[in-house]
Amino acid sequence: MLNPLLIVLTTVLVLVVMHVVDDALQLIRERTGQPMAHDMRWSRRIVRAILIVVVAQLVMPRSWFEPTPPQAALFGPDSLWLGADTTRLIHLDRDQRELVRYGRELVVNTSRYIGPHGTVMQNTNALNCQSCHLDAGTKPWGNNYGAVWSTYPKFRARSGATETVAKRVNDCVERSLNGTALDSTGREMRAILAYLEWLGSGIARGQRPKGSGIAELPFMDRPADPERGRSVFEAKCVSCHGADGQGLLQDDGLTYQYPPLWGPLSYNSGAGLYRLSRFAGYVKNNMPQGVTHEAPQLSDEEAWDVAAYVNAQTHPGADLSNDWPDIRLKPVDHPFGPFTDTFPETQHKFGPFGPIAAQYKKP
Ligand code: HEC
Ligand code: HEC
Repeated sequence: MLNPLLIVLTTVLVLVVMHVVDDALQLIRERTGQPMAHDMRWSRRIVRAILIVVVAQLVMPRSWFEPTPPQAALFGPDSLWLGADTTRLIHLDRDQRELVRYGRELVVNTSRYIGPHGTVMQNTNALNCQSCHLDAGTKPWGNNYGAVWSTYPKFRARSGATETVAKRVNDCVERSLNGTALDSTGREMRAILAYLEWLGSGIARGQRPKGSGIAELPFMDRPADPERGRSVFEAKCVSCHGADGQGLLQDDGLTYQYPPLWGPLSYNSGAGLYRLSRFAGYVKNNMPQGVTHEAPQLSDEEAWDVAAYVNAQTHPGADLSNDWPDIRLKPVDHPFGPFTDTFPETQHKFGPFGPIAAQYKKP
């Protein structure tokens, strides 16, 4: 907004100059004997108009003059969240804009920067954030970030504490990416946070946009079956992730075209995908690559079974000793005891989960 004081001063100055000019004109007319025209004082009219505008500006609400804030969130028909409108990036100052761009780049090509041969540091496994948070974290039901900025900080039972976004990001760095936590004041974390904040601008506090995160699949009545899952894997997954589940490294040697699903370079046993419901919900709406919530290829059963097959393979271990300080709050598919119920660990890993959920339901 223009500084009102500056406008007033300029106006006064213009007023003075115009009066002088007007007076001079009058004088010339007198001297040359031309008739006096009383409506000649055009300067006064203009100045009066300017003054009205200035005064009006002073009494009008400030917000009328502020540039539109970067309400970047895009919603499709049926209020489906579709990410952020990048044309709104110009509303950010240059440094912030660069940070948001770098954050997005880190989400898309994580491994290139902080992977095993990363150019910034060597910290994480072969995966990118985008391997699991598709389309840079914007795909509907593709484990997207739609509800991140609007719902954190929030209490999470896994840590038994209120978690900031930085803490939640580092959860994925330590578990899904099997690395060590990023320095929360470092450029990489600040960039990821800037990107997540940018994605969430325009989503009201507490709101979870439609299609955010991972869909919940209904429980099966039987345990998920790794053997049946193997057939699904062979029919629908091998072509990209490979028969040995180790994916395909790109020519640059830094990132994977098809990420590994198990083994030393995959997510560890403390990661979200190591829980069957997260894996099944993710895969149902997103794999084989290209499928969507509207047009999936796997049945719910196939999704549960292939989840069981992949999670029955070896994954890096994780120190979970500080997780779930209140063990009553463990989700039904948390695969490691101790539990407050009497169901065996294998049922917590493969199901059926219905009976466990029923027991936890408050009467
Ligand atoms: C191996 C898969 C995987 C990778 C790689 C991964 N994540 Fe995640 N992430 C998950 C899963 C699963 C969840 C939990 C989703 C749920 O429970 O609904 C999650 C949750 C999150 C959340 C919280 C979402 C919410 O709405 O509460 C954030 C933020 C997040 N991840 C950021 C990242 C970032 C940043 C990276 C890269 C540095 C990353 N993740 C890498 C699988 C992954
Ligand atoms: C056409 C190739 C293709 C097929 C077929 C495919 N995937 Fe994927 N998958 C990918 C790609 C590519 C990614 C990473 C997504 C990205 O980076 O955008 C991925 C990511 C994943 C991830 C998360 C990252 C990780 O490595 O843990 C899981 C889990 C996964 N796929 C499971 C499956 C399962 C199960 C099947 C079979 C039902 C399957 N995929 C079939 C290409 C494929």
